[in-house]
Amino acid sequence: MTLNIQSQVLLATRNTLRLPTRAEYLVDVDSDAEILEALRYARQRRWPVTVLGGGSNTVFAQDLVGLVICIRTRGIELIDERVIAAAGESWDHLVRHTIEAGLSGLENLTLIPGLVGAAPIQNIGAYGVELAGVVEAVHAIDIATEETLVLSNLDCQFGYRDSIFKRALHQRVIITQVCLRLNHSFVPQLDYLDLQRWRALQSPENVTAKQVSAVVADIRRKKLPDPAIVGNVGSFFKNPQIDADAWRQLQQDFPGLTGREQVDGSWKLSAAWLIDSLGLKGFKVGDAAVSDQHALVLINKGKATSQDVLALARQVQQQVMSRFNLQLEIEPVIIP
Ligand code: EPU
Repeated sequence: MTLNIQSQVLLATRNTLRLPTRAEYLVDVDSDAEILEALRYARQRRWPVTVLGGGSNTVFAQDLVGLVICIRTRGIELIDERVIAAAGESWDHLVRHTIEAGLSGLENLTLIPGLVGAAPIQNIGAYGVELAGVVEAVHAIDIATEETLVLSNLDCQFGYRDSIFKRALHQRVIITQVCLRLNHSFVPQLDYLDLQRWRALQSPENVTAKQVSAVVADIRRKKLPDPAIVGNVGSFFKNPQIDADAWRQLQQDFPGLTGREQVDGSWKLSAAWLIDSLGLKGFKVGDAAVSDQHALVLINKGKATSQDVLALARQVQQQVMSRFNLQLEIEPVIIP
């Protein structure tokens, strides 16, 4: 096996924000054996390692020193209601594949950009469903020891757009496989407002996972800028979570503020509404801008640098802080 290590690689086509960052060295790997070989190669040379999937939830703060390992492993295995998917598979391809096979559970997560291995890192979620609800286990390689780790759902410490992979295991493991438990029987999850509106027009007994998937795809296409057309990483900030008293106070001060009550009684506010109400849609720093289409999305208008994007994010955070006294937390992974 020989790795094809390239040097001074421009990453513009390997991150959906299209940041023109450079990797000192880069290798595409398509098996676990190649991952291990790449790790050894880097260790022998004392190169730091950065792992990259689809680059759809990653923001590079600057050029990357050392070796970027791009995960290109493939394979989806279906065993009854269990799914074992390689980290390098496209997430949306996996969703479609499981629906075609008569399994439900992933339909609300249709059209989320990126690869399977990245999905547990931020616990992807949309339209009332989070990955955490279907994960059985995540397999990973420890970068320092090369050991294989198998993390259970609990071990992953999933939270809202959060997991152990963003915290204690950040940059310390490479996810190789994700094991999910889906359902042959279909239990539609249509609580999200846009889906409720659609459900009202259907006869419930006829609703299928395939239909829900098509509706979700339609909503996403209308609401969110397509990263294939304009550079972006989806939501740039998390929706802030506050307690019920703070929610009541804010609602009094800012009528129109939108939010959703959580099972623990707290409230998740719409960060998009906060940003939008400040009139920040279209606001620019260099070539980075707040999307006109959805206020939670920062876009690259063509020539944005990492500095533009991060400066824009800071300005949005500052304005939200001074108006609402709320700290917006950045959602994608920032590679320092
Ligand atoms: N809104 C505005 N202005 C806008 C857009 C939205 O005021 O420009 C308000 C509206 O009141 C709207 C509310 O914000 O009803 C919520 O908007 P939306 O339904 O688009 O959801 P979101 O809370 O902004 C979250 C996720 C998205 C996910 C959608 C649907 C986060 C950080 N984002 O967005 O996830 O697709 O819900 O479930 O939780 C992502 O993580 O990259 C992502 C796109």
